[in-house]
Amino acid sequence: MADIGKNLGTAVKVLRNSGLVAIPTETVYGLAGNALDHKAILHIFEVKNRPSFDPLIVHLHHMDQLSEYTLDLPEKAKILAEKLWPGPLTIVLKKDPAIPDVATSGLDSVAIRIPAHPLTLELLSKLDFPLVAPSANPFGYISPTNPEHVNDQLGNKIDYILDGGSSRIGIESTIITFNEDKPEILRLGGTSLEKIESLIGSTIVRASQLNPIAPGMMESHYSPDKRVVLGNVVELMNIYPVEESVFLRFKKPVPGVNKDQQFILSETGNLEEAAQNLFSTLRILDKLDIKYIIAEQVPDTGLGKAINDRLRRASAKKNEINNKDENY
Ligand code: TXA
Ligand code: MG
Repeated sequence: MADIGKNLGTAVKVLRNSGLVAIPTETVYGLAGNALDHKAILHIFEVKNRPSFDPLIVHLHHMDQLSEYTLDLPEKAKILAEKLWPGPLTIVLKKDPAIPDVATSGLDSVAIRIPAHPLTLELLSKLDFPLVAPSANPFGYISPTNPEHVNDQLGNKIDYILDGGSSRIGIESTIITFNEDKPEILRLGGTSLEKIESLIGSTIVRASQLNPIAPGMMESHYSPDKRVVLGNVVELMNIYPVEESVFLRFKKPVPGVNKDQQFILSETGNLEEAAQNLFSTLRILDKLDIKYIIAEQVPDTGLGKAINDRLRRASAKKNEINNKDENY
């Protein structure tokens, strides 16, 4: 298992020597390496079992560094960067050759973010290179929101886990790109669409396309191993055996089901709280001795859109597999 601690000196040393450190961010934990170091980048792909065509996000300390790593900054991107960074927003920009092609899977664009976590910002300020950091989970699984999640799955493959507590937002950053200056959302996430549109006007949401531009858009991403069934919980109770199921609801328990089979994302109906709890709850449910996670969508506004997106993706893979099973 990896060492877990708050020692920035250790983290700096590991990163300077091409090693990997799991870092806390306000969204989810990242698996970080030197963004200018081929060896570190290739190691990240290997540890995550991530396909080489899935590009990484480059994490910066300050907007001033943009000119070093990107080629131009559309006006609307500048507004978002100035208003929302540090924060849960990733902006795809034209790549400067300073960023190695392996980091961006050969694309001529690079995804950039300044994370809003004090420990990681301090770490970045101590380094003379940016950090590439995908979420610190095996490819396709649920993103980690605390050091134990990282340790559970990647602990024996990485050098150090920087402990910054539980992630405040709990869901990955929103990804935006500019297609000839027109803003397109590639992944719904920790910055709400409403927030973005209040700053730069309307956007096109491409996050639910079938042909993914960003692999995070793939239908079966963010999946637990257990089968997630999404729909009206009360109706699904009549279809799936209650004794082999747990119920994941937004606000209220399902009437007539044991309390210990019920998991509530936010008793006060707060979507921020629900986002914060989503991934850690799914991880808990995935470890239970049950067959089905019966879940329902949350209100489709604010962070609710990103929560519903993750629930839909979590349910996608298992349905595919199960449909195949049912055919045999
Ligand atoms: O909140 C987050 O964004 C976290 C924390 C650690 O910062 N990171 C994260 O990284 O979620 P990852 O690698 O799990 O997801 C990054 C997504 C991938 O779906 C990738 O395809 C997309 O960003 N992406 C990266 N570079 C891109 C580019 N140049 N164009 C389009 N999509 C890109
Ligand atoms: Mg990820």
